[in-house]
Parts: sequence; C-alpha cells; structure tokens
Amino acid sequence: MTKEEKYQALVPKVAALLTGEPDPVARMANMAALLHQEMGFWWTGFYRVQDEELVLGPFQGPVACTRIAFGRGVCGTAWKERRTVVVPDVEQFPGHIACSSESRSEIVVPLWQHNEVTGVLDIDSRELGTFDAVDQKYLEKIAALVYGPQREIWFAAGCFWGAQKFFKMIEGVEFTEVGFCNGWVQNPTYEQVYTDETGHAECVHVRYDPERVSLQKLTRLFFKIIDPLSLNKQGGDEGTRYRTGVYYEEELDRPILEREFLRVKRDLDVEDMPVELLHLTSFYPADEYHQDYLDKHPDGYCHLNPALFDLARSRR
Ligand code: SME
Repeated sequence: MTKEEKYQALVPKVAALLTGEPDPVARMANMAALLHQEMGFWWTGFYRVQDEELVLGPFQGPVACTRIAFGRGVCGTAWKERRTVVVPDVEQFPGHIACSSESRSEIVVPLWQHNEVTGVLDIDSRELGTFDAVDQKYLEKIAALVYGPQREIWFAAGCFWGAQKFFKMIEGVEFTEVGFCNGWVQNPTYEQVYTDETGHAECVHVRYDPERVSLQKLTRLFFKIIDPLSLNKQGGDEGTRYRTGVYYEEELDRPILEREFLRVKRDLDVEDMPVELLHLTSFYPADEYHQDYLDKHPDGYCHLNPALFDLARSRR
C-alpha cells in the first residue's frame, strides 16, 4: 500500500471513530491514537492554544515539552505563520525545540476554527525527510475533523484576493486559503500562473461546517460575486486564470451544485454559461504573500463591489 492509499483509507476511519463525540479533547485523543497506530509515527499529538502559548494536549509517544511560545519552534512557527510546516531535518530548522534528541523530521499542521488557529497537530519521525506534500494534504484533512465534520469546496471567482475576503466573512466558513486549481503544471508560482500557460484558475479553498452553512448557500453567494456570463474576465482581470468555476472532491456534492447551476441558467434564461463545474484535479496554495491579502492591505486592489462584503456579513 502506498502512503497515499493508507491515508485515503484512514480519513473515513477517523471520521467514523469521532462520530457522536462532541468534545474536542476526546476527539484529539482518539485521533492521535489512530494516526499513531495506523501510520506508525514516532510521536503524534496535539498542542492547544491557551492564552499566549501552545499547551500540550492528547498525544501518543514519549514524554514531550508542555508549553511552546508563539513563534517558537516548529509548532509556534506553524501557529504564527498560519500554515503547515514540513521540516525534513530538524537540525536545519532554526529554533527547533528538541523535546527528544531522537526526533529527526517533523510536520506541524494548524487546527482551524472560525478562521483562527486554535492549536496544532504535531508529528515527529526518527528518520530524516519522512513528511512530504502527501502527508500535508491528508493531515490537513484529518486535522480539520477535530472540531466536527467539515466539508471542502473550491471556488474560482476571478482575482482571489477579493474572493477570499468574501468567503471568509460567511458564518460557518472555518478556513480559507487562496491558490491555483485544475492546471497541468505542478507547484506553479504566481508568476507562472500569471502567464496563463499553466492551465490554472485562481481559486479559494473553503472549509466549512455543514451544520452552520450549506453548500447550496455558499454556491448561491458565489454566484453573487461573479458575472456568470463573462468568459475569462471578472472585473478588470482578464485571462483563463480568472475563469470562474466550482470544483468538488466528493461526488455527492455534484447534484447540489448542478441544481444551483441550473437555477442560475434559468434565471438568466440561457442554455449555457462559461462557469466550470468540475471535479478538483489539483490545488496548490499560493505564497503567503497572497493569503489574506486584503487583511494585510485593506486598501489593496479588489475587483468586488464593497457592498458584496455586507452581503457576506449579513448572512451571519
Ligand atoms: N519539535 C517541536 C516541539 C514539540 S515536540 O516535537 C513533541 C517544535 O519545535 O515545536
């Protein structure tokens, strides 16, 4: 079995194991146990944000440091930078905290709730270079289960700066990140995508709590921020990278999306519209520079009408 196949089998097992248990610490405890056993990790555990520190939570493996400051070590860095940190060789990571001298490589994945980092999932290995993009992808999915079942969807709505600001305002959206989807070049840079030669669309990856916001509602809001009849052009931005679309991973999402697409076509009285409805074939997060861009630059470029943000907020 490849590592990817192992993870694919593990994700539904984790989800099933957690069913019916609402307490996040209890959920973390069983997640750590299952991950540790099934993947054969050396140290698998959680740290939770409490006041200004990360405090040790449920784990499996040897004893560990109990408190880590914001920005310190791999864990504090993942918290501060709000991203997964993969460390192929801990000796090469400035400020790495060695709870044990046996740890050689590490991955730390943030936990998200209401767009805030509330803790981290930390995994250590006794070998060098254990963790890669496959671990990152699946461990992010598993970490997203800590606070209850979450669902994922990807929206391409023109320039991703404004689109991210819009989606993260919607009640029930737990996490967003901007990136490039459904192209054919691996790990493209923004500059490469900008040439329009990589096949990617700028898009927003949205994780949401289906008990607080439905896919139908998210899709309806998506149609409020695009011109569904405009091909490869939204606002002032032109190119195939600014095409519009909704991309799903779970087949069960498709009929819900199809219904919404039909409704829009009926309202517009058109047979067809240039909005993609496709399975997600690839997604690469954009550089940190582009993440939460309009939070960092409130006066930055935004192709969306400001009134649309009131609409997103009013759905709270
Ligand atoms: N190495 C981590 C500390 C936690 S232990 O690995 C369990 C870090 O640098 O944050």
